[in-house]
Amino acid sequence: MTERLTGPGRSTNIFLMLRSKNPSTDWREVFSKATHGHAPPAQEAIDASRAEGREFLDHGIVFPGAEVLDLGCGNGRQLFGLLDKGLGSYVGADPVRESIDFCDSHIFPLVEGARFIHLDVLNEFYNPKGKMLPEQVVLPFPDRSFDSVIAGSVFTHLGNIEVCSRQLGEIARVLKPRGKSFSSWFRNPPNPLSSDRMRSVFREGDIREIVAERFDIFHSRGGAKAEFHDQWCLFSQKR
Ligand SMILES: C[S@@+](CC[C@H](N)C(=O)[O-])C[C@H]1O[C@@H](n2cnc3c(N)ncnc32)[C@H](O)[C@@H]1O
Repeated sequence: MTERLTGPGRSTNIFLMLRSKNPSTDWREVFSKATHGHAPPAQEAIDASRAEGREFLDHGIVFPGAEVLDLGCGNGRQLFGLLDKGLGSYVGADPVRESIDFCDSHIFPLVEGARFIHLDVLNEFYNPKGKMLPEQVVLPFPDRSFDSVIAGSVFTHLGNIEVCSRQLGEIARVLKPRGKSFSSWFRNPPNPLSSDRMRSVFREGDIREIVAERFDIFHSRGGAKAEFHDQWCLFSQKR
């Protein structure tokens, strides 16, 4: 399945799909070179990415030909599980300049159909000198640009629910009608509330309210225990 890439900054009249240029690339070795931002142990990162990629396909978050935005892509971890599945294209965006530089120099040359963008939004933990205020964030894409937006472990660092609401509004804006979104959260209960940018926790009712303004949740998992990594994962569709 192929997709004609006609969106902003993309070449026209080129038929591409998201795939690795060399199927024997050792992604563990590539990812282990990441030095900034979110850089978990490489094998763990790749295994989790592949499991998530399968789950995204199973639940229709991504599908053949889909144009995908990975918002808060970090060092491109979630791209690995999306490669060679027939998706149309992938854009990774993140506030950590060094992570985008890493993706541009280490991942971009090895993949067709992917590109990376620095999003200079303030985050006290990840990008303390960011120029754009998170409560006024504007994603650098036109309305209805993507079929799917993945935001894995991003709302868990946004500090307050107003910023989350703004981010969801932007995700909805750049999604095509009935577009799909994946997001993960720390909810209260069971976790104690926190506005820490390293681990933000919001009331479950508040999360449901801001999500329901624009999305229907069609699947969820996790987030039942107050364990450090147990995130509440929401699979949703733009209304
Ligand atoms: C825990 S990492 C997750 C990275 C990646 N999604 C993954 O699953 O491997 C959180 C990411 O969110 C990014 N981030 C922080 N604030 C953001 C914002 N306002 N918009 C988009 N991304 C943001 C950080 O720079 C960081 O790369």
